Amino acid sequence: MNLSKEHITALAAERDLSTSELMSLLQAEGLDSLLFSAADKVRRQIYGDAVYVRGLIEFTNCCKNNCYYCGIRRDNQSATRYRLEQDDILACCAEGYELGFRTFVLQGGEDSYYTDAKICGIVSAIRNRFPDCAITLSIGERPKDSYQAYFDAGANRYLLRHETADPAHYRKLHPEAMSLQNRKECLFHLKEIGYQVGSGFMVGSPYQTLDNLVADLRFLQQLQPDMIGIGPYIPHNETPFSKFERGSLSLTLRLIAVLRLMFPYALIPATTALGTIHPQGRELGLQAGANVVMPNLSPVKVRKLYELYENKICTGEEAAQCRGCLERRVESAGYQIVTSIGNVKKPNS
Ligand code: SAM
Ligand code: FES
Repeated sequence: MNLSKEHITALAAERDLSTSELMSLLQAEGLDSLLFSAADKVRRQIYGDAVYVRGLIEFTNCCKNNCYYCGIRRDNQSATRYRLEQDDILACCAEGYELGFRTFVLQGGEDSYYTDAKICGIVSAIRNRFPDCAITLSIGERPKDSYQAYFDAGANRYLLRHETADPAHYRKLHPEAMSLQNRKECLFHLKEIGYQVGSGFMVGSPYQTLDNLVADLRFLQQLQPDMIGIGPYIPHNETPFSKFERGSLSLTLRLIAVLRLMFPYALIPATTALGTIHPQGRELGLQAGANVVMPNLSPVKVRKLYELYENKICTGEEAAQCRGCLERRVESAGYQIVTSIGNVKKPNS
């Protein structure tokens, strides 16, 4: 199919294209600058030049799951495991607060050490001490009652990538014990409870096809998330997928732009994985439509241990250095870091 400028105009106006048009657009080599400037225009209409910062606290690298792509999977015997206690996490938040962070993202493996009582204790301690901040959790699949308890304790956002919306592809990325249906159900539970919900997927994960990517876009249309996180798949030596190639920069950027046009209000991060595969990956992500960055607030002593993939960037710097570095990068890309809580600007939210 021959794609033209009109298809991009139509995508911006209708927030949709046919499946074959979307597939052609994701492969179109010559339309990138038009696509990225259309995405940038939409993001500026809604968010101006603001880029929101989220302080990421990777508080445990212990995980009961065995995702074939992930460096902290259960069977990786060479990973040195760690857990942060409540006081460590609060100290990260306090440092972040001083640096202007008003959102804390607590991310970790699926680690039953953190019982519901523990998570609620951590969340309510952050809520009491930093009442003007958003608390985002990213701790995987849990029962609806647990999600409700964290919400009642003061959590207000949740990140759970669906990873792939195609059941056959999901089976290739995860062992039998994991189910796409459960993951999707979790996302709808989170929405029902009232969280601002983020989902997403890796670009170029093993066995992924263009059909799979369009299925991902269609699933996101159904879910209508507030946040959409995508980043390239990057191999890790100690996983069954160590020999697969990493995802491509150009396809990731094209997808960011397509997501911006399909979901104009979404909060879309320029991810660390994007910065890992290209020195200016995050800047390019912002220029293709992303509007969030997530500097690391985890203690430097554990940074290298949260190794989802190889050569992950920003593992040696103190929080203040990360914050300063990202501020310069965001400005060089033509945007401004904003230190507000940065809620989604959907018309009725
Ligand atoms: N356990 C939580 C969960 O499942 O949502 C959060 C932690 S999990 C490590 C966060 C995300 O890292 C996953 O959703 C996945 O998309 C991404 N990830 C894992 N391994 C990766 C890899 N090798 N390359 C790129 N991204 C990866
Ligand atoms: Fe659990 Fe990656 S396998 S976080």
